Amino acid sequence: MTDPTATLTRPVIVVQNAVKSFSGRVVVDIAELTLGDVPIEGLIGPNGAGKTTLMRMVMHSTGLDRGTITLWPHGAVAGGGVVLSNLPSHRMAGHGVVKSNQVIMDFDKLTIWDSLLLAAAASKSERPHRIFDEPRVFAEASDEVARYLDEFGIREPSTYAKSAGEKKLLDILRCLLLKPKFLLLDEPTAGLPEELTAKVIDEVRTVASQGTAVVIVEHNLDVIWNLCDEVHFMAEGKVIMKGTPAEIRAHRTVVEKYLGEGHV
Ligand SMILES: Nc1ncnc2c1ncn2[C@@H]1O[C@H](COP(=O)(O)OP(=O)(O)OP(=O)(O)O)[C@@H](O)[C@H]1O
Ligand SMILES: [Mg+2]
Repeated sequence: MTDPTATLTRPVIVVQNAVKSFSGRVVVDIAELTLGDVPIEGLIGPNGAGKTTLMRMVMHSTGLDRGTITLWPHGAVAGGGVVLSNLPSHRMAGHGVVKSNQVIMDFDKLTIWDSLLLAAAASKSERPHRIFDEPRVFAEASDEVARYLDEFGIREPSTYAKSAGEKKLLDILRCLLLKPKFLLLDEPTAGLPEELTAKVIDEVRTVASQGTAVVIVEHNLDVIWNLCDEVHFMAEGKVIMKGTPAEIRAHRTVVEKYLGEGHV
């Protein structure tokens, strides 16, 4: 359980009447869903339930057929919401909304160090190129990158990321370096060894305790049960249950119907 007082600076995201179909088949259909009410939320459900599509709809990297998705920054008064579903996805990080990807396709063109430095620079300034002419900005960003490299045991940052697992980890570190206020993680620990999974979880707890809202999709339910304050269970494009991990696990027959035996 995360400290509930960590709610102090969290934004919320409200999904309303959001529908997405592919080739005429509805894959997400959510009447109303609020994300960010608690520090760390899980999003679980079987393959094809629509979890990734929903996260992509929040980032507007998948367009909605209809509906709206609104970010209410901390302290926003009436009228202060940002309609994310009207914005292009490259504007999301500027509003503090950042997502890691289930399938990683980046990191082939820049070295590990440069990829991470770019993310750190982007969080420091709306003009990341300042990193090249302001030594203080460069020093701060380098320090942050070096801390993560050290913590995650990345010893050759001047090379390119090779394995899928290494890219996955880099994608998560990229997200953390962007200093998100709202962090969406799509299967962050898939393909990571246990030791790195534990470190990623530690980092997620830390940012959540500092006021970042976290939503995490995972098939590794031990991660979900241990980490999340609340869980949304998705099936066939809808959220069919919401509750604490204990409440969700109490619905053993539903969980096993969709996820198979041995998950509760
Ligand atoms: N770009 C696309 N074109 C066509 N169909 C798509 C596309 N993206 C997703 N789908 C379909 O939408 C449904 C939901 O997919 P989605 O990736 O959101 O599921 P998921 O819950 O993330 O599943 P998983 O746990 O396997 O990652 C699936 O049936 C998938 O095949
Ligand atoms: Mg997915």
